[in-house]
Amino acid sequence: MPDLCIEGYVIVSADGMLANAAHVMPDELKFEADKQFFTSALDRAALIVHGRHSGEGQPNSPQRKRIIVTRTVTALAPNPSNPNATLWNPAGASFEAVCDRAGVRAGTIAIIGGPDVFGLFMDRYDTFWLSQAPRVRLPGGEPCFPGVSAQSPQQILAAHGLSAGEPQILDGANEVSVTPWRRRG
Ligand SMILES: NC(=O)c1ccc[n+]([C@@H]2O[C@H](COP(=O)([O-])OP(=O)(O)OC[C@H]3O[C@@H](n4cnc5c(N)ncnc54)[C@H](OP(=O)(O)O)[C@@H]3O)[C@@H](O)[C@H]2O)c1
Repeated sequence: MPDLCIEGYVIVSADGMLANAAHVMPDELKFEADKQFFTSALDRAALIVHGRHSGEGQPNSPQRKRIIVTRTVTALAPNPSNPNATLWNPAGASFEAVCDRAGVRAGTIAIIGGPDVFGLFMDRYDTFWLSQAPRVRLPGGEPCFPGVSAQSPQQILAAHGLSAGEPQILDGANEVSVTPWRRRG
């Protein structure tokens, strides 16, 4: 799909977690500057993709087209509670088919988690925006990608053909930054 650009977004703790041991993203991993970065990116995206337990919960969320990944459907289905959302089971329909169903044939597609959904697109990201909060640790938490903690998030992105660009400081006091990992070649 040459006219689509696939981008990933996550904020992780120093130990590579996106949520705590209760599968909840705790307040200590939430930073206003990162939220603003994320919100502006989603406002520019043509389509958002996330698992059934994720979602950005922002004022503009109802207006955004989204795909919700779930095994509760066999392939593709409308979401009865949100006309802008399509339910997708990757075992029953291709990503191209669900984009087509959502009416999206060009623009940026934002993949926003959780871990297994990030994993589905590991060989397809054009850019993965990795936000890091190095002062936060979430022992026993939920690793951001399949394969963390045996490997770091950075090792996994590199193993899938992505290279780190220049980090951008989002919150100097808390040392929070975002690094674009772009596909090599
Ligand atoms: N720090 C961050 O930036 C960040 C980013 C994203 C999420 N989070 C946090 O992470 C937590 C959610 O994580 P989660 O593990 O519950 O992940 P999730 O991906 O939001 O939800 C998991 C559900 O998605 C569906 N799913 C996932 N992979 C699938 C596949 N390959 N095929 C079909 N369905 C699939 C399944 O839904 P069914 O049960 O309906 O089949 C599964 O139960 C939340 O606390 C969220 O706030 C944090």
